[in-house]
Amino acid sequence: DDVAVLVPAAGMGVRLGPGAPKALRTLAGEPLLVHAVRRVAAAPSVGRIVVAAPPDDVESVVALLRPVAHVVVVPGGATRQTSVSLALDAVGEAFPIVLVHDAARALAPVELIERVAAAVRDGHEAVVPVLPVVDTIKQVDADGRVAGTVDRSVLRSVQTPQGFSRETLVRAHAAAVDEHTDDAGMCEKIGVAVWTVPGDERALKITRPLDLEIACLLLDLG
Ligand code: CTP
Ligand code: MG
Repeated sequence: DDVAVLVPAAGMGVRLGPGAPKALRTLAGEPLLVHAVRRVAAAPSVGRIVVAAPPDDVESVVALLRPVAHVVVVPGGATRQTSVSLALDAVGEAFPIVLVHDAARALAPVELIERVAAAVRDGHEAVVPVLPVVDTIKQVDADGRVAGTVDRSVLRSVQTPQGFSRETLVRAHAAAVDEHTDDAGMCEKIGVAVWTVPGDERALKITRPLDLEIACLLLDLG
């Protein structure tokens, strides 16, 4: 248990439509955050979990997760990057490996969490799980005219959990000036080599209403 996992869960879920903050929206009767934390807590490497909760829901998140796992809950920020930073501040130096895992990827399996942690343990400072891109990707100009077709064989979709040596993630966050959509991007910015491991379809990011339906089917499949 050399791994701490930061779980950014403070987003509003605008693309999911009106309702509670996304991490608190339910899937098969339980909030997405409960699904996510249960899986993280089941990973043998994990010794500490820090959740960045919607600032108005800290108390309810503490109560919600008490029966699920031992977690530290901090109020999140206005952006994902700030939420991760605030959670990182709450991690002690006892954990040399830090994973960042979106609550919205509620069904990421234990094997994926362990695969990312193992790659960091093997000496990679920054690790991302990736999947091949299935669609043909085109570049489009402002008028909607196709400007070209991108070679998708060199492209990958990136998931979470992303894994880092603690020192690298602290350094990347300290150096960040602009907003990044993932933590590996901040590491790239300071010249850290980022390694890839195979991702997992079950770690899909629940973003739009259809994703909730898909997640529901995945749960039924066991
Ligand atoms: N997140 C966060 N703090 C924010 C914004 C996002 O902790 N200020 C978290 C979300 O809770 C989610 C993860 O970052 O677990 C990925 O973000 P995304 O899927 O974009 O979630 P939301 O921002 O909630 O969704 P939307 O962009 O549709 O509003
Ligand atoms: Mg968002």
